Amino acid sequence: MPAPTSAATRQAIAEAAAHLRAGRLVAFPTETVYGLGGDATNERAVAEIFAVKGRPRFNPLIVHVPGLAQAENCAVFNAAAHRAAKRFWPGPLSLVLPRREGCGLSSLASAGLDTVAIRAPDHPMAQALLRATGRPIAAPSANRSGRVSPTAVVHVAEELGDKVAMILDGGPTPVGLESTVLDLSGATPALLRPGAVTLELLTELLGPIAEPGDGAPKSPGMLRAHYAPNLPVRLAATEARPGEALLAFGRGAPSGFAEILWLSRSGDLAEAAANLFAMLRRLDRPCFTRIAVMPIPERGLGRAINDRLRRAALGEH
Ligand code: TXA
Ligand code: MG
Repeated sequence: MPAPTSAATRQAIAEAAAHLRAGRLVAFPTETVYGLGGDATNERAVAEIFAVKGRPRFNPLIVHVPGLAQAENCAVFNAAAHRAAKRFWPGPLSLVLPRREGCGLSSLASAGLDTVAIRAPDHPMAQALLRATGRPIAAPSANRSGRVSPTAVVHVAEELGDKVAMILDGGPTPVGLESTVLDLSGATPALLRPGAVTLELLTELLGPIAEPGDGAPKSPGMLRAHYAPNLPVRLAATEARPGEALLAFGRGAPSGFAEILWLSRSGDLAEAAANLFAMLRRLDRPCFTRIAVMPIPERGLGRAINDRLRRAALGEH
């Protein structure tokens, strides 16, 4: 039976929190994408998250908390982590830090590693749910493993609707890309996944940061092709090829495409990020040969957009 979808009433939050405390799964909105939540201290609930997503067990989850105080019960914060959390939390930044001994977190949540990724989401429903539950919530993006992350409640209902106790409806997610993942557990900060807290902002606060490809540590989840639509994706397209649909960016688009959706007509990267996954889903139809994407500048949020697009283009077809 499909899970009931509920708008943000106090009663819906209380019901969702009761499901979580009983070890059941709840999908909920965050400012980045929808999450598939389970009690991070309950090994069985966490195992269920992996099963429902079809996610490989070597790929750890992000633990969600209301703020720094609760995060410090789960992880050991160093000076850089304090600075980052104070500046960017609540917000789209996950910090990889050493797990605190005796933290009570499921070891499966961090895939047996001695680190844990943790963040405080900046979304009123996510905050209300975390506070009502009173426990850390492990939540990957609420899509089937390997698919594009959900930015609207219909995406969640399509892929996981019959697998969760409840879906909280917060409307479209404002950021639209998954959180930045920053590893602060080693000697040098390392960017594991670019996101809305940009490399430029992090460098300004923390100094030099190792990037993927620098020989920096990698996230287990970033090792394989990810975020793949069914159609092939062609990047930096400047002309049409037969049967292609286009994701356009900025003023004007080359002619000859079968269909065009505009990530942002004004060239606004935040608008493009918020539209990216929903538009990829809308164009992912067998009547087209391919999804072509116009060039996106490799700066600020553009890095995160290009990262997700490169992964979409890597999908096995
Ligand atoms: O915006 C987000 O982060 C969303 C919302 C729901 O909060 N969640 C999300 O979770 O994107 P997920 O599971 O789809 O992505 C988590 C990423 C993966 O690439 C995973 O490998 C990495 O974080 N990660 C988690 N724990 C880690 C750890 N201890 N060390 C290194 N990477 C880790
Ligand atoms: Mg994901």
